[in-house]
Amino acid sequence: MTGPRSASHPDAPSAAGWWRRAVVYQVYIRSFADANGDGIGDIAGIRSRLPYLHDLGIDALWITPWYPSPMADGGYDVADYRGIDPRLGSLADADQLLREAHENGIRVLIDLVPNHTSWSHAWFHEAVAAGPWSPARARYIFRDGRGPDGDEPPNNWQSAFGSSAWTRVVEPNGRPEQWYLHLFASEQPDLDWENPEVRAEFESILRFWFDRGFDGVRIDVADALVKDPALPDMPPELSGAGSFPGEHPHWDRPGVHEIHRSWRRLADGYEPRRVLIGEIGVEDPERLSRYLRPTQLHAAFNFPYMATPWVASALRNVIDATLEAHGRVGATPTWVLSNHDATRHVTRLGRPYTGVRRRELDDILPVDIALGTRRARAAALLMLALPGGAYLYQGEELGLWEVEDLPEEVLEDPIWERSGRTVRGRDGCRVPIPWEGDAPPFGFGPPGSTPWLPQPAAWRSVTVETETSDPASMLELYRAALTLRRAHPGLAGEELGWLDSPAGTLLFGRADRFRCAVNLSGAPLALPGSRTTLLATETVVDDCLAPDAAIWFVAARS
Ligand code: GLC
Repeated sequence: MTGPRSASHPDAPSAAGWWRRAVVYQVYIRSFADANGDGIGDIAGIRSRLPYLHDLGIDALWITPWYPSPMADGGYDVADYRGIDPRLGSLADADQLLREAHENGIRVLIDLVPNHTSWSHAWFHEAVAAGPWSPARARYIFRDGRGPDGDEPPNNWQSAFGSSAWTRVVEPNGRPEQWYLHLFASEQPDLDWENPEVRAEFESILRFWFDRGFDGVRIDVADALVKDPALPDMPPELSGAGSFPGEHPHWDRPGVHEIHRSWRRLADGYEPRRVLIGEIGVEDPERLSRYLRPTQLHAAFNFPYMATPWVASALRNVIDATLEAHGRVGATPTWVLSNHDATRHVTRLGRPYTGVRRRELDDILPVDIALGTRRARAAALLMLALPGGAYLYQGEELGLWEVEDLPEEVLEDPIWERSGRTVRGRDGCRVPIPWEGDAPPFGFGPPGSTPWLPQPAAWRSVTVETETSDPASMLELYRAALTLRRAHPGLAGEELGWLDSPAGTLLFGRADRFRCAVNLSGAPLALPGSRTTLLATETVVDDCLAPDAAIWFVAARS
């Protein structure tokens, strides 16, 4: 494979910890590339696009769950952790993808979903059949209901997707019996991590994939596994998501760290060592850093950064808090703007900032896509200039925006039904990628195929084909930034120093006089006249950077 960078095999000896400055590209497999024309992306589709990913300049892929699944939550409901859903391919395809990715210098992380299985998993079938208080039920969290007939849920916990976190089992003869816990959809029963059999099973699952050569895992809701065994009612002050004082009945409990320690020991037993990346919804940087001690996870997604509005002081604060908390435990920071659970950032950044960030409130504000796109270009340069790892979500390199007008009948996210059809959910950021051509399926699948979610006709202006070689496109900006990020010595280290700059702007330096400036002030930002521009999102006129623009440059020595 040839391309703008050499493809060294990722197992070649490298500086300590490749993940410390890796750019990891998230493939939401259902929506990336559909080779067989059934409307759903698949492994063969990913393989066919490896040259694109190689040329983009990323270091690793994170592939969302590909296991056999009823797809009640887009594959985060796993029926068999050691297989591949036939709609997505086969184990042989997965092995082949890994080999070819490695040949392209790209590592592959897969998604581990340990908090819950699918209700189609063999264990759950056994549990329901075996009846109350059986060993098969002890792998999950089954309890008797409250109230005289047990017809009230065992406690007041709410599912993250809306309504009660408990569903009652009904016997074939129609008689209701125990309830089971599911922090997400009812099709996703929570496992009981106090049960040693559960722990042993997941160690065996990790070995299954690591033995095949996969480079690591992204761990789904890594802070949720351990629950307060007393299953107490949720006090009202803890019912919202986000930060909380003291102990929460099911998020971020102290016992979860022992599980991550055991996985780290397992991952460190491989050569090269396998990598663990946590999805951890803990806002407090100090609490987050506990997961990143040298004996636990290698990195975690920086959700506080993703949630920060386009306000210079807020961004600077979250960057400082991140660097401080990660530095304390010697962990590498990460930066992320979008993923398959969040409104695409072109859309988020194109909305007026109201001082509050709540999806249900924000979603009704008007969007200026042109403004969001300008800011997204600047946000990309900012993120990629920060020390640490960066996580890209497929399609952000094209500047895709959230599809907010999907017809109701195509919505699949369980949030839509569980919210009583009041919250549309996450389908709008999962619309299949436009690769080429003037009309859907835009090369996502073969001509004539119908993608599982409809693509907007306006995406003809943001296909890979249209953007390639257009120097003003988002894609060429990402390609140039990723090439420079690899090549420029100023971006190699882990240090960052803030430099004085006017209110509403950000200016920092890295090694070798590398500088990044971002203008969020609404007025032109004067730049030092004597400098070498490496990359800028807008043309610099009269040594001034336009509002909502960013620049990378090398400062003159004096
Ligand atoms: C994680 C996934 C999300 C999924 C949830 C339940 O947050 O990113 O897509 O719905 O876990 O598995």
